[in-house]
Amino acid sequence: MENVSMENVSMESARLVLRRFTPADAPALAAYRSDPEVSRYQGWEAPVPLAEAEPLAASFSAGDPRAPGWFQYAVERRDVPGLIGDVGVCRSEDGRQAVLGFTFAPEFQGHGYATEAVARIVGFLLAEEKLHRLSAGCDARNVRSAKLLERVGFRREGHLVQSLWVKGEWTDDVLFGLLATEYEGTRDGR
Ligand SMILES: CC(C)(COP(=O)(O)OP(=O)(O)OC[C@H]1O[C@@H](n2cnc3c(N)ncnc32)[C@H](O)[C@@H]1OP(=O)(O)O)[C@@H](O)C(=O)NCCC(=O)NCCS
Repeated sequence: MENVSMENVSMESARLVLRRFTPADAPALAAYRSDPEVSRYQGWEAPVPLAEAEPLAASFSAGDPRAPGWFQYAVERRDVPGLIGDVGVCRSEDGRQAVLGFTFAPEFQGHGYATEAVARIVGFLLAEEKLHRLSAGCDARNVRSAKLLERVGFRREGHLVQSLWVKGEWTDDVLFGLLATEYEGTRDGR
């Protein structure tokens, strides 16, 4: 049985630990957020110097995972310490819905780690925390993100044409959703 402890905000999956950020994660956070391929479809601009990553990691480390708004989970491998990526969860005001986001360091992409981490969070939020619905959105060109969301069970719900102004251009936003009822159906193999 995978364990969840909200006291120390730690969850495990087969190969990973999802835990609270610490200030010591700042250098790894700065490194992957500074990669232009990693930042390409995200809201921030690369590079992200250590001086910016340090207060960011500190603010992530002080977050409340059950409060409305964003909480960022740090992801590391069970057998090798060190930040490899993060999964963000933004709970709604009433706590019944959440939006997900995720970012992994390039050297840790292509191993199924991001899928494993997001699947763990999805299970936690829908099966354990009993949220009603999860949502996610990505740039229509972000094929890897869309594939990941569909792998963990999200449904494509819409394609908003030129709906966001990001990094000097209009971009298409693809919307995904997953209901608790659909998730239970998947787990039962229906
Ligand atoms: C989105 C993102 C997390 C997806 O990363 P990813 O590496 O494609 O996802 P995973 O870690 O789950 O790896 C899946 C890939 O690993 C492969 N893989 C290798 N070993 C595997 C294993 N043991 N288990 C599962 N998959 C494995 C899968 O086949 C898949 O490859 P494919 O897409 O070529 O079929 C990553 O591209 C990223 O961080 N991008 C930058 C930030 C970003 O844009 N975030 C999304 C904003 S909406």
